[in-house]
Amino acid sequence: MKIEDIINLQNKALNEIEAAADSETLEAVRIKYIGRKGLIPDLMKGLKGADPTDRPEMGKRVNELKNTFQEKFSERRNQIESSRTESGDKTFDVTLPGQWRGLGKKHPISYLMERAIDIFHALGFTVADGPDIETVFNNFDALNHPPGHPARDATDTFYLSDGDLLRTHTSPVQVRHMLKHSPPVRIIAPGRCYRRDTPDATHSANFHQIEGLYVAENVSLADLKGDLAHFAHEAMGPETKVRFRPHFFPFTEPSVEVDFSCHICRGDGCRVCKQSGWIEIAGAGMVDPGVFEAVGYDTGTVTGYAFGMGIERIAMILFGITDIRDLYENDIRYLRQF
Ligand code: DAH
Repeated sequence: MKIEDIINLQNKALNEIEAAADSETLEAVRIKYIGRKGLIPDLMKGLKGADPTDRPEMGKRVNELKNTFQEKFSERRNQIESSRTESGDKTFDVTLPGQWRGLGKKHPISYLMERAIDIFHALGFTVADGPDIETVFNNFDALNHPPGHPARDATDTFYLSDGDLLRTHTSPVQVRHMLKHSPPVRIIAPGRCYRRDTPDATHSANFHQIEGLYVAENVSLADLKGDLAHFAHEAMGPETKVRFRPHFFPFTEPSVEVDFSCHICRGDGCRVCKQSGWIEIAGAGMVDPGVFEAVGYDTGTVTGYAFGMGIERIAMILFGITDIRDLYENDIRYLRQF
């Protein structure tokens, strides 16, 4: 054995350590060189047969080889270890708990709009749509609002600089639909509405309605009551009661306000229904002849009912929401409850 053999072995060993890309390969290198039957112990055994004059020098070299090997081996092992944690371990440990990614969920407003569409669809209604930016004609004139009606006021309605406005209700979709289709019509129109309201627990400047319109021969107030009661029972449970109170809207005659019994206290009175046991859900009525004239329908042959329901109102009693503003915070912890 010559000194050269030791130097060659050292170079080879260090190259192999450097080339080891993962801990398994590195471990194989360790066993190959310093395992019980490895090349370095082998070399040490060989020292006995070496020339006595060279032996001290060779012993020193072999020791150095062993130490350097150990040192480089540890260095490489640490490198592999840290790159493994940085780039993500490729090995898959089935015993580790998984990373749970929360499932998405429908916002209560979206849920209710879809639910309403389903319920009315079963009654033969189809969905009609209209834009958020409306003309004064569709939002007010065709709906029989006289000039100077307070709802037209710029303190109540958001007007755009070109004279159009952000629709204050979904009722203009009735006008759009009737201008394009002749009777019979049976539509619902869910959508966003805007009013210059100061936000509080029950008001928001941006809210949602579902408009309904049914025009045919012999449609009556009884149809309206039956269909809204059906909706109430389907959406909120069969024990829900519906009541009509006389009211006024420019585009219906007669007009009513529609209350549902409070889903939370079952009519006993609570914070959400302001102790009355009822919640106002919709405005409704029989379509005013003035509206039929504006869209060119023959008031002699058809009658119709219309309603506009507040979706937030329904959400509040269905889910026990005490502040309407919570619905728009988009706080995932809040929304997850529904
Ligand atoms: N548009 C009314 C509102 O926002 C609600 C309403 C009342 C809609 C009577 C109707 C209706 O279709 O017939 O207050």
